[in-house]
Amino acid sequence: MTSTPSSPQVRGPRRLLVTGGAGFIGSNFVHHWAKTYPQDRIVVLDALTYAGNRKSLADLEGSENFRFVEGNIGDRPLLDELLATEAINTVAHFAAESHVDRSILAPDAFIQTNIVGTFTLLEAFRHYWQQADFSELPPKKWAFLHISTDEVYGSLGDHDPAFAETTPYAPNSPYSASKAASDHLVRAYYHTYGIPILISHCSNNYGPYQFPEKLIPLTCINILMGKPIPVYGDGKHIRDWLYVRDHCRALDVLIHKGNRGQRYNIGGNNEVRNIELVHIICQLMDDLAVDLPTRPARDLITYVDDRLGHDRRYAINARKMSIHLGWNPSTGIEEGLRETVRWYLDHRDWWEPLLTGEYHQFYQKMYGVV
Ligand code: NAD
Ligand code: DAU
Repeated sequence: MTSTPSSPQVRGPRRLLVTGGAGFIGSNFVHHWAKTYPQDRIVVLDALTYAGNRKSLADLEGSENFRFVEGNIGDRPLLDELLATEAINTVAHFAAESHVDRSILAPDAFIQTNIVGTFTLLEAFRHYWQQADFSELPPKKWAFLHISTDEVYGSLGDHDPAFAETTPYAPNSPYSASKAASDHLVRAYYHTYGIPILISHCSNNYGPYQFPEKLIPLTCINILMGKPIPVYGDGKHIRDWLYVRDHCRALDVLIHKGNRGQRYNIGGNNEVRNIELVHIICQLMDDLAVDLPTRPARDLITYVDDRLGHDRRYAINARKMSIHLGWNPSTGIEEGLRETVRWYLDHRDWWEPLLTGEYHQFYQKMYGVV
């Protein structure tokens, strides 16, 4: 039943369009793909919003099979041109506004990119795919993989079963509502037009190249800067943490083997309360960092007002990925956090320049004196 992505019927060069490839998960995915399948063509389309960073792809610049295009998924003429001239057969759609707190402060961009942008991309791909003469390609050479989130399923109580692919949608934030809307469009394009879509619902990712606004990089960076670590509410909210490299392996398997028209949950089997997670990072920083402005780092923990509509618990049941496609996460939270803390310690040149300008203003608005 299970087979590896290198099975003969699906190998051979692919031509990928990766939207949002300069973001956190997108850039990790591009690194994974370029390393695993050097013969495949990768075209990254990214608008380079505050969250996009070309430095995250610096080692690929100049490679023969890699191209970076600065542009918006809402730009239909650009999409038409890229799909046709690059003869794309696989779209990995990561581009989105992704931060829940920003969606609470200013939802507009979330509607525009996550809903209208995804619709524009779907329309471009539909017209291209319907006209393309790639009849010699095996069906699984075609893919439109839409990266969704577990947040579309809403929030769980402490004793509820984990989200399954059959869990009804109940998005609670403008961010998750915009992702849910885009999921419905993607699903409808399979049922109406037969577009070879896949939808993945992953839990909270962490690892290298994550923008400083999210809990784990924010905690690492604030410790290194001697700034307070803001913990929302009582700190007992639970997330199911997925190491980004495990996630990229899952997306690889999905593209090669996933049944078109279906959705798949991807989780880390790592449910942890926020306050426990922050304590683990503090301890790791105490152990690994040489010059900390405040030691022990846990002295920086500061409880702040809760996020509006804050979802209490997410947990993913990823049995479908395991049973049907043979994928399982392999990185435990302690190991993954150690790798991540080391990465932020070693890559100050990547994150330090991000703290000025737009992010500085967002931080002031979000956390005030913190
Ligand atoms: P990110 O915010 O780090 O990166 C998003 C990227 O998309 C950036 O490079 C940005 O420049 C680009 N982008 C934004 N708007 C664009 C537009 N209109 N046109 C072209 N490019 C645009 O996001 P991430 O954390 O890497 O998340 C990637 C995807 O995975 C998103 O769709 C997100 O909803 C989903 N997701 C993320 C997580 C997580 O834990 N980070 C979990 C579940 C799902
Ligand atoms: O579950 C998947 C989702 O995970 C993705 O769809 C989103 O794109 C991604 O941003 C992430 O959303 P979260 O809101 O769960 O991630 P964030 O890192 O913002 O917050 C994680 C938890 O930590 C959450 O319970 C809120 C809390 N938190 C966050 C920040 C930024 C704090 O306590 N303090 C903080 O300063």
